[in-house]
Amino acid sequence: MQEKITALRADCTQEIEQCTTSLQLQEVKVKYMGKSGLITALLKGMKDVAPEDRPKVGSMVNQLRNELESVLEKKTAEIAEMELQHKLKSEKVDISLKSLDEPLGTLHPVTLITQQIQEMLIPLGFKVLEGPEIETDYYSFQALNIPKDHPARDMQDTFYITDSILLRPHTSPMQARFMENNQPPIKIVCPGKVFRSDSDASHSPVFHQIEGLVVDKHLTLCDLKGTLEYIAQNLFTKDTKVRFRPSYFPFTEPSVEVDLSCSNCGGKGCSLCKGTGWIEVLGAGMVNPFVLENCGIDSKQYTGYAFGIGIERIAMIKYGIPDIRLFYENDARFLRQFKK
Ligand code: DAH
Repeated sequence: MQEKITALRADCTQEIEQCTTSLQLQEVKVKYMGKSGLITALLKGMKDVAPEDRPKVGSMVNQLRNELESVLEKKTAEIAEMELQHKLKSEKVDISLKSLDEPLGTLHPVTLITQQIQEMLIPLGFKVLEGPEIETDYYSFQALNIPKDHPARDMQDTFYITDSILLRPHTSPMQARFMENNQPPIKIVCPGKVFRSDSDASHSPVFHQIEGLVVDKHLTLCDLKGTLEYIAQNLFTKDTKVRFRPSYFPFTEPSVEVDLSCSNCGGKGCSLCKGTGWIEVLGAGMVNPFVLENCGIDSKQYTGYAFGIGIERIAMIKYGIPDIRLFYENDARFLRQFKK
């Protein structure tokens, strides 16, 4: 019996040592320690051992089993580590590999112009704010000195949702919204979508404006002109000139239409400016004292100026886009041209 045990110990230890995979190790384990394994058979054979020898032989077999189990355990850990290392090596992903060139999208020209105007005004101290596209009649008209039945309401073909709720026809409601809750000094720009029932090559039912409002002591038309000149020269060229023509908006007094010298011909006259050398770009003016008072601002102490820029209009002039509908068709060939 003792020889048998010694032989088994030697065989099993050697076989364990020779294993190189966990599968082989498993086979050895079954061969010796499994249900019908050699060591198990040894234990079963105890009944043939003389009773007086049983305790001694029994403890030898147990010791053998314990020994082999710990050798097996050690080898199992070794092989597991080896297999892990192998796996790590063979399944290594090279994260430094260059990715396939995915074509990048481009910013929409409306976004480009909006961002450009915002970015040039922020250093002057302007805050950028956005307001609701679904607006009340009050902020869109009444607060801006356009009472019901005022003929100026015809200037905007408004989409009404109910009698008092509508899609804002301009970004000017933001003037009233902001002045109601803030005292001067005020310096804001408000970009956003506006809506009008109008559609042709230069009008779209949805388009974009950016509203500017400055309220403080001692502001005059000269401040307005200086700001607009700064915007125009940054958008177009350093020698762009600004011209004011008298106009009418209920919320400004005086009101002006603003023309820029044509950036295409430098003012000599071309097809873009229809031979006049000037292009009309926006409406502006000194905030009507009625509007200041409506919003709780003392018009004896403060004056203000405001302007409303049509973003598409600027983009059409700047990039030579002949039809406003091109902005909304999402034709990739059109959009790709604005890649930086
Ligand atoms: N809200 C006007 C429009 O949509 C544009 C405008 C004119 C805005 C004069 C102003 C302004 O702030 O002062 O036609």
